[in-house]
Amino acid sequence: MKTQQHISSSLRKTKISFYIFTLLAFIFFIILLLGQDFTFLFRQQQQQQLSQPLSPQQQLLQQEGGQEETPPTIPFAETMSELECDLFSGKWVWDESTRPIYEEWECPYIQPQLTCQKHGRPDRDYQFLRWQPHGCSLQSFNATFMLEKLRGKKMMFVGDSLNRGQYVSMICLLHRVIPEHAKSMETFDSLTVFRAEEYNATIEFYWAPFLLESNSDNAIIHRVTERIVRKGSINKHGRYWEGADILVFNTYLWWITGMKMNILRGSFDEERKDIVEMETEDAYRMAMKSMVKWVQRNVDLQKSRVFFTSMSPSHGNSVEWEGGPNGNCYNQTTPIEDPAYWGTSSRRSIMKVIGEVFSKSAVPITFLNITQLSEYRKDAHTSIYKKQWSPLTPEQLANPVSYADCVHWCLPGLQDTWNELLYTKLFRP
Ligand SMILES: *[C@@H]1O[C@H](CO)[C@@H](O)[C@H](O)[C@H]1NC(C)=O
Ligand SMILES: *[C@@H]1O[C@H](CO)[C@@H](O)[C@H](O)[C@H]1NC(C)=O
Ligand SMILES: *[C@@H]1O[C@H](CO)[C@@H](O)[C@H](O)[C@H]1NC(C)=O
Ligand SMILES: *[C@@H]1O[C@H](CO)[C@@H](O)[C@H](O)[C@H]1NC(C)=O
Repeated sequence: MKTQQHISSSLRKTKISFYIFTLLAFIFFIILLLGQDFTFLFRQQQQQQLSQPLSPQQQLLQQEGGQEETPPTIPFAETMSELECDLFSGKWVWDESTRPIYEEWECPYIQPQLTCQKHGRPDRDYQFLRWQPHGCSLQSFNATFMLEKLRGKKMMFVGDSLNRGQYVSMICLLHRVIPEHAKSMETFDSLTVFRAEEYNATIEFYWAPFLLESNSDNAIIHRVTERIVRKGSINKHGRYWEGADILVFNTYLWWITGMKMNILRGSFDEERKDIVEMETEDAYRMAMKSMVKWVQRNVDLQKSRVFFTSMSPSHGNSVEWEGGPNGNCYNQTTPIEDPAYWGTSSRRSIMKVIGEVFSKSAVPITFLNITQLSEYRKDAHTSIYKKQWSPLTPEQLANPVSYADCVHWCLPGLQDTWNELLYTKLFRP
């Protein structure tokens, strides 16, 4: 806390030092992410057989007990006939007739970290793939219909930068049917609000990379190193989520640095902080349970729906898919063909935790199991085609693999599919 206060007071001195600090924070972030990806290289061997978590169907709509008298109604559902198909099991097919759903230049809301064409990406193949589930098809996205359903309502995405990507994709999918004068987007600290005025609807994003309170909660200045998460603190952010009609949570990226998590008991304001180390999976389970409990206490499930998006995979190490060394998502233009492909083993252990928590959950949280279908998409990352936070060095420029971002995704692209899945689950649960 002291160093943080020291930093922030010196920040005020000049705008320039603030700028430099922000750059450094982001450089640290990217270095850490890449470092993380490389550690998996060495952990690959330890991959173990883990028992299969529950299927998405088993997760879905576990109605609370004691509702025998009235038939369950699911908010937003258009039909009660259950979709007899696992939407998350399927394959990527080439489809020039319906893809991309929108053009990059048509959507002014995409942040410059995700506009790959603008930043010189030479190929566009990643925009033309459509997800085809094995047993059925995704509902095609109708923006007018969705906005009608959102009339007078609030939809909110809560989580990290990957959830922000999905949020922006949702805005891009919706905004085209709203005239210029009747929409706006504003950011206030952790909260970004898109307004569709004629519909009296808002679609919002709330930055909370751990869901719980942490020392990484500042939307601009956040540090992955020395990250500390406070136990039992979900209401700190949760009070800003109350009243949302549709909530979409995610959290994953910030938990997986390969190091143990620092968990704070007590408050960040205390002089002597009571911090314990926890295994990543145990800390993650604690956060998931807090989220479920928060939903149980604060969400009126007669009128609202809650979604949870599973882990977004990264492709920082080509050893995982081709056995070749020194590569990553850079220069990848095709998806992985192996249907059984799954990157790092740590994602299995987190998936297992999610399965366990949701199987015991008394509240119906719709699970968007996007991990497997995204695992195939080594071609869909922003790679080097994004706004850089700092000028690149000659050494970096000579070796693009060294600075490729294999965590985030180009828009339009993969994350539009996550929203098609969300759309289908919303109206056809
Ligand atoms: C989209 O939804 C609107 C509003 O429900 C409807 O009038 C329109 O026909 C739909 N468009 C398509 C292509 O289904
Ligand atoms: C707009 O929606 C909010 C809920 O988000 C509601 O409280 C308010 O009454 C609505 N206003 C109008 C004019 O419909
Ligand atoms: C990109 O990949 C192609 C093969 O797919 C290879 O021929 C080419 O040399 C690679 N380019 C760079 C800059 O690595
Ligand atoms: C999500 O999907 C993957 C791949 O289809 C599966 O292995 C995993 O068990 C699913 N997770 C849950 C919690 O259902």
